[in-house]
Amino acid sequence: MIDIQIISLFPEMFTPLNGSIPGRAQKKGLLKISYLNPRDFAVDKHNTVDGRPYGGGPGMVMKFEPLLAAIKMAKFHQKTYHPSLVSLLSPQGKKFDQKAAQELSQRKGLILIAGRYEGIDQRLINNEVDEEWSIGDFILSGGELAAMCLIDSITRLLPGALGHQESAAQDSFSKALLDYPHYTRPAKLDGQQNVPDVLLQGDHSAIARWRLKQALGRTWQRRPDLLKKHILNEQEQVLLAEFIRENSE
Ligand SMILES: C[S@@+](CC[C@H](N)C(=O)[O-])C[C@H]1O[C@@H](n2cnc3c(N)ncnc32)[C@H](O)[C@@H]1O
Repeated sequence: MIDIQIISLFPEMFTPLNGSIPGRAQKKGLLKISYLNPRDFAVDKHNTVDGRPYGGGPGMVMKFEPLLAAIKMAKFHQKTYHPSLVSLLSPQGKKFDQKAAQELSQRKGLILIAGRYEGIDQRLINNEVDEEWSIGDFILSGGELAAMCLIDSITRLLPGALGHQESAAQDSFSKALLDYPHYTRPAKLDGQQNVPDVLLQGDHSAIARWRLKQALGRTWQRRPDLLKKHILNEQEQVLLAEFIRENSE
């Protein structure tokens, strides 16, 4: 079970996690999610959670004290059960990828901070945050969607979370390759290409060979950067050469 505490000014944004695979994982007791809202820790009568940036400029910054109190509360909870790292969602963080999802899915607990406005006070990052994760080189309005992306991808990797555990092992990136193409019934559709014969004939080793060839070929076509990081074995070299030949005829 992974115990996730989310620190966010907008906990109501997380309802998508109650459906589909994360929802089922929560019901099965594989995933526990709780929320801390810095607004509940604000001490003034307006429950202020943002302040103007020193030095001027546009936008606001998440206020130090309410966020610190929420982080301390999350750490207190996690310390009681299992010490956890504090992760900030940030476009300036390390790029989150499948390898990171695998690593985080092994942890017992996570504290995720969703930033808002121009971000959080740098002193909190220096003293309270252990790691920063970015979901890509673009700017979201807040860390909530980014936190949901992390949680969804981590949940898929928890044993028992998927109907077919193997499907996580076959997803794109799990072996440094993109996934192969998928088809379902009917085999023939007006005006469409037929489903490749090999998938209809029940020869499992031929199907595995075809799928690996397509995965290699797609990765070569769409994400050559991934192939550079993957040392091809002899069979993979043969299959990729076949794919290139077939697709350049
Ligand atoms: C509008 S953004 C602030 C961007 C910040 N001024 C900057 O340029 O680095 C508000 C919050 O959204 C979240 N966020 C935005 N883009 C993100 C990304 N690509 N990955 C993870 N979190 C992101 C962060 O929590 C951030 O503090």
